[in-house]
Amino acid sequence: MPKRGKIGSLRKVVIPAAGMGTRFLPATKAMPKEMLPVVDKPAIQYVVEEATAAGLHEILMVTGRNKRALEDHFDRASELETLLEEKGNFALLKTVRESTELAHMHYVRQAHPRGLGDAVLTAETFVGDESFVVLLGDDLVDERDPILPTMIKVHEQFGGCVLALMKVTPENISHYGAAAILPLDKSFGLENVVRITGLVEKPAPEDAPSNYAVLGRYLLTPEIFDVLRETKPGRGNEVQLTDAIQELTQRSENGGPVHGVIFEGRRYDTGDKLGYLQATVQLAVEREDLGPKFSEWLRDFVKGL
Ligand code: G1P
Repeated sequence: MPKRGKIGSLRKVVIPAAGMGTRFLPATKAMPKEMLPVVDKPAIQYVVEEATAAGLHEILMVTGRNKRALEDHFDRASELETLLEEKGNFALLKTVRESTELAHMHYVRQAHPRGLGDAVLTAETFVGDESFVVLLGDDLVDERDPILPTMIKVHEQFGGCVLALMKVTPENISHYGAAAILPLDKSFGLENVVRITGLVEKPAPEDAPSNYAVLGRYLLTPEIFDVLRETKPGRGNEVQLTDAIQELTQRSENGGPVHGVIFEGRRYDTGDKLGYLQATVQLAVEREDLGPKFSEWLRDFVKGL
């Protein structure tokens, strides 16, 4: 089990996981969407692993009805472990224990899901007066292209909030929060880092300030909570995290400024069926144990299409 981090250094992560997962019904009728396996690991475990790989070990999941499997997954499974031990299956035992030993897990329930902003607000007591990270479970960032370490560095240099951004096509921007951006002075020597001067949640392409979309990775200052309390429901009649961060883009201190790190690495959107299938195939192809046989089959299969 990792040591608890120093007070004052970044260590807390909030993972909103209260969503109903309607896009995956009926699979999600009695099971949280976060537990859908990508190859053989639940999608949510990749997200927790991303946090711990960046040295962040205090993790709060915002859950709701029907989400108990999430808590079970990150807890000990004594009977199963004893059984595997007795059978001498230590490789499997290691995999089973991995999710328990990753991080210190905490849970809070969002009674009435009122949007992402509201989910983050339920984390206020856990977060207290520290900067923290929010990771959205629908976006999987490939472990070979980590973005959190760069976001943390930018936060250390400028203070304030830091979001991950990615370039999308104009017709796709309306699925995301869109950022108005300014290049940084060259003297900073920071490639792929921009100042965010405004944010709009899911704009029509003609209203988008740019084609830079907010990826589900946020490093936020605790001032966000005061803003969220005052944030009125926005798009979809939900309290939008994007709207609250927009307020911080207007500040040079007291929670701001807001910077963006442009992500150009590999990511998978497991929030819809197509992205989920792509993630599964891509990660299976790259696995040492499955990849060679699966790729061989896949090549033949594709020829027949
Ligand atoms: C959320 C945010 C949006 C962001 C997106 C990233 O939207 O509201 O600003 O761009 O995640 O995945 P959702 O996908 O939950 O509708």
